[in-house]
Amino acid sequence: MKAVCHRENQSQTKNMTGFEFDQSRPEGKPDHEYGTVAQEAGAMLDLLYAVGKKVGSVSELSQLVKEITQMTQRTLKATASSVLLFDDEERELRFEIAEGKSEKALRKMKLNAKSGIAGWVAQHEEPIIINDVNTDWRFNGSIDEVTGFITKSIICVPLIVHRKVIGVIEVLNKTDGSDFNEQDLETLTSVAPTAAIALENAQLHQSVLSAYKSTIKALAAAIDAKDHYTRGHSQRVMEYTLMGGLSLSLPRDELEILEYAGILHDIGKIGIADGILSKPGPLDEHEWEIIRQHPRIGSNILKDIPFLEKARILVLHHHERYDGSGYPDGIKGEDIPIGARLLAIADAFDTMTTGRSYRAALSADYAIQELTRCSGTQFCPFAVEAFASGYKGQQKASNTESIAY
Ligand SMILES: [Fe+2]
Repeated sequence: MKAVCHRENQSQTKNMTGFEFDQSRPEGKPDHEYGTVAQEAGAMLDLLYAVGKKVGSVSELSQLVKEITQMTQRTLKATASSVLLFDDEERELRFEIAEGKSEKALRKMKLNAKSGIAGWVAQHEEPIIINDVNTDWRFNGSIDEVTGFITKSIICVPLIVHRKVIGVIEVLNKTDGSDFNEQDLETLTSVAPTAAIALENAQLHQSVLSAYKSTIKALAAAIDAKDHYTRGHSQRVMEYTLMGGLSLSLPRDELEILEYAGILHDIGKIGIADGILSKPGPLDEHEWEIIRQHPRIGSNILKDIPFLEKARILVLHHHERYDGSGYPDGIKGEDIPIGARLLAIADAFDTMTTGRSYRAALSADYAIQELTRCSGTQFCPFAVEAFASGYKGQQKASNTESIAY
């Protein structure tokens, strides 16, 4: 069976995942407030709006701390600097920010919170200057052994918020080899409270964000659960989209956008009538017209959530086709955002590899052949290649894992 490439065949697949909404809705009323909206999904959507408007970007706060650290290092004419934070159980310190050549190695390290200079400063809540670390009993040389950096002198200051130490900020080695002085210590001590508050806010944002992600996932699951055959679809589409993004080595912030877009891509189906959703036969032209509006409805649902603005664009365009014959805007080629091109592939792959009432699930190999066959017409060749290589890589990794066990 040719599952995805031609419109006829697509409708055969899509008539199981269509949606319906009440066209007589009053002007100006949000799309999600009418039609057969499941109560629990509606409540979650309200929460999605409320929280989404308040959640800013964690990366902005992390960037702020990074900039503070860089500026301090430059001002103090130091060779390296870092911020260490307690982990959740407060038994270890880990490097949150590390400036200098050893950044990669440091980010992997966790230190005993009671040892070393950083541990001492955190425990005693006191800043310290040490201009010859080799003569100081608190110095832990094991970090230098891992990084290859040679620490000579250090200023380390505790990061305190609401009388609680959350970590330390430190700068190392003057570039000209001279000693750190009291003025340097005062400079670092004066920026530490700002860094500490920004870091705590970033941590709080992170926990709000995690709760927010859970809400989004629950909302997507509620939509999927309305049709037995699409259970888990949004979650899998999110994972496949991320797999494609990772295969293209997209940066972390773009992967996060893919994550939201993947899980929310069919949110426009929230007003779907169960009868249409589970309709066993082909849909008529009117029903198709309605179905083709679901990306736009999804986009309207998300449009007031600034935090999801970039994901909204991908949701809007997840049914565009590379040759321009898709919907809602009929844009083509690279005018379609790369995230939406990956999303379309992930969506088709999951649709093919899960069963429907009228056919069994197709094999992953067959689905990839289909994606490749439709490459250049329905799908972006570059994105298909990335998806296929990501999938093969993942399979290889899981085979290796099962051999190891
Ligand atoms: Fe869709």
